[in-house]
Amino acid sequence: MKYGHFDDENREYVITNPKTPYPWINYLGNEDFFSLTSNTGGGYTFYKDAKFRRLTRYRYNNVPVDNGGKYFYIKDGDTVWSPSWKPAQTALDSYECRHGMSYTKFKGSKDGIVTEVLQFIPLGFWGEIQQVTVKNTSSETKKIKLFSFVEWCLWNAEDDMTNYQRNLNTGEVEIEDSVLYHKTEFKERRNHYAFYSVNQAIDGFDTDRESFMGMYNGFDAPEAVLNGQPTNSVAHGWSPIGSHYIEIELQPGQEKQFVFMLGYVELEEENKWESKAVINKNPAKEMIAKYDSVQKVQVAFDELKEYWDQLLGKIQIDSGEDKLDRMVNIWNQYQCMVTFNMSRSASFFESGIGRGMGFRDSNQDLIGFVHQIPERARERIIDIASTQFEDGSCYHQYQPLTKKGNATVGGDFNDDPLWLILSTTEYIKETGDFSLLDELVPFDNDMSKAKPHFEHLKASFYHVVNNLGSHNLPLIGRADWNDCLNLNCFSKDPNESFQTTGNKKDGKAESLMIAGLFVVYGKEFVNLCLQIGKQEEASKAQGHIDQMIAAVKEDGWDGDWYLRAYDYYGNKVGSQENEEGKIFIESQGWCSMAGIGMEEGMVEKSLNAVKKHLDCDYGIVLNSPAFSKYYIEYGEISTYPAGYKENGGIFCHNNPWIMIGETLLGRGDQAYEYYTKIAPSFLEDISELHKVEPYVYCQMIAGKEAVKPGEAKNSWLSGTASWNFYTITQYILGVKPTYNGLLINPCIPKAWDGFKIKRVFRGVTYHIEVKNPVHVCKGVKELFVNGEKMNGNIVPVLSTNKEHTVLVVLG
Ligand code: BGC
Ligand code: NOJ
Repeated sequence: MKYGHFDDENREYVITNPKTPYPWINYLGNEDFFSLTSNTGGGYTFYKDAKFRRLTRYRYNNVPVDNGGKYFYIKDGDTVWSPSWKPAQTALDSYECRHGMSYTKFKGSKDGIVTEVLQFIPLGFWGEIQQVTVKNTSSETKKIKLFSFVEWCLWNAEDDMTNYQRNLNTGEVEIEDSVLYHKTEFKERRNHYAFYSVNQAIDGFDTDRESFMGMYNGFDAPEAVLNGQPTNSVAHGWSPIGSHYIEIELQPGQEKQFVFMLGYVELEEENKWESKAVINKNPAKEMIAKYDSVQKVQVAFDELKEYWDQLLGKIQIDSGEDKLDRMVNIWNQYQCMVTFNMSRSASFFESGIGRGMGFRDSNQDLIGFVHQIPERARERIIDIASTQFEDGSCYHQYQPLTKKGNATVGGDFNDDPLWLILSTTEYIKETGDFSLLDELVPFDNDMSKAKPHFEHLKASFYHVVNNLGSHNLPLIGRADWNDCLNLNCFSKDPNESFQTTGNKKDGKAESLMIAGLFVVYGKEFVNLCLQIGKQEEASKAQGHIDQMIAAVKEDGWDGDWYLRAYDYYGNKVGSQENEEGKIFIESQGWCSMAGIGMEEGMVEKSLNAVKKHLDCDYGIVLNSPAFSKYYIEYGEISTYPAGYKENGGIFCHNNPWIMIGETLLGRGDQAYEYYTKIAPSFLEDISELHKVEPYVYCQMIAGKEAVKPGEAKNSWLSGTASWNFYTITQYILGVKPTYNGLLINPCIPKAWDGFKIKRVFRGVTYHIEVKNPVHVCKGVKELFVNGEKMNGNIVPVLSTNKEHTVLVVLG
């Protein structure tokens, strides 16, 4: 069953039934200032950091689940309704929610009144616009009442939902004309306030929640709205809100438009006040003036569209398969921008207070984003590397506001450092900008310890070399990519988190996943050294890689697949010998991608084993059989019920690693089949089961051993976005940036006749057409650039013209 449809032309998903199986959300904002908005108007807004600078309040895990947001109420006679259906939940005559590229539009109608709400954040602006259009389509004159509503968060989202003995006394507001200012804590250590405005005179307002709501009413039926009369309340403590009240009279056919703005202001200490206890409102007024008419809003909205035209225009495909095209051309790229911005901080599953920016997560997110805005990717790489320690280890996470490592989350995840080599090499291949390597980057955010960025990569590489276990395989540390495989943890205490609890200090467990990862990114490190003339460095590193390959062949092969690990006691994990968890996806993915034992047939056997033991109708599960009881020596992985999350769930992030492995074997049909199993647009028809948005990837789909296989959770913020984009474009469609040009090496389903792809690379546009006349999966027979036949399958970096044509014939 579907709850809407794709509108590819407008790059929107159009939801036509508000009762989606879970809130289907969108993100507004591209840099610094962001909002989350659900298909029924739920969500919240923050500046840079969803923990430390939250503007509006949102209650996670609410009943019903999505309650609280940026709301509008219309009172027409005795009927109260909302254009986004919620909060009023009055049955509408029509409802539509269009989630587009950084904007959302609602359109609801009731009894001849049509109301549209357009929400977006203009580029480079610290404010959300809500443009409300109310039209009378009836034949009578209508007098209606419009109420807006936001609930302020007292900035620190964690404190806001826990520290009531203080919070209920601190709330402060100011009201001037049509602008409601939120200034809690401004008089002490804060240099910021928020405001909520509308571009015309109002007929009343409320700023105190209970005065507006009434003590016993919910968001669906605020007392002020039911009474058709605001109370003009001024909040002192309790819960400050912002609600405007406007009386509207509309002749038949007439419409009126209003521009609301939810904004954020920061001030220098000396400019904070206008007079005693009165905040300096000038910056807010300037912001309001910037968009005080629908014409000005339209210009900003057009700019936003233009921005996305340009970003998405860098990679566009025409494959003949709509579902694939809309993923690659629109939604997957869009999601990559969102994961780049949010890491794992704020979604409807991530509460915005705990996770900040992940070291491994953000490095991986970058590979799906770097082609869009390479300058931002460069800055991000430096931010991440700055949190690394001199021995190559790093903080697992950092706060976006301070860019400092988050000490409470700790470190010692021994895969973390290697991902920095991935992001850096992908950045340089995309841009050709080797200067990043010379950039002075601090260790542990301490400039006195700064070294050229290249030294960070070296530290990353040698962190593995310096931390090998008894089988000469990498020590896992707290955990590797699978941060639930806590092999040195041995936690007995339900009050401690597996993610932060003290590890056994002499942790001996070893990881085959890190071994594969090390070989893949070790080779990248070597390749990079060769590019910049560091021959000696390269051959030294190559020696360590060769030893790692030997160690995997020697002690990492289980007969039909790669082992997953050795546990603390030196016992095998992910082996035929184990009763449960006999085979894991991660080591099959990484050792295959590394090509370890390719000649001996290991890669093929491993991927065949994945197909046989891990594949199911909804994707590839992480491990099999799933654990049915708690294994203290394995940790969190065995805490999840069978079939969920890291215990036998389809953890979508890692499925592309297998797809890439398949493309190395040339099995294009298999790679693509895996792709279509988890790509959301292919799951639209089973939305009822899948539950989450059909336009973005989710972290986890319940696996074959789950109670409800196919049911998904944790949409949006997952490395799934970047890995799938990377895999489909660079390994399946096979257009891959290299230091010296674009490598063209597709691995597609045999049945395809070919496809077209437009790729902007280093400022130059390539129109690539791939033809598959004899129906093979892989193998470039001929390649022509501007009609000229090339040797090999690399399109060199061309700068003479801005547009080039490339013809590729497979065979
Ligand atoms: C989850 C992981 C997540 C980790 C980090 C675990 O509970 O299962 O997917 O990465 O927490 O917070
Ligand atoms: C989600 C985390 O964000 C990521 O860092 C981790 O690799 C996966 N879960 C797997 O456990």
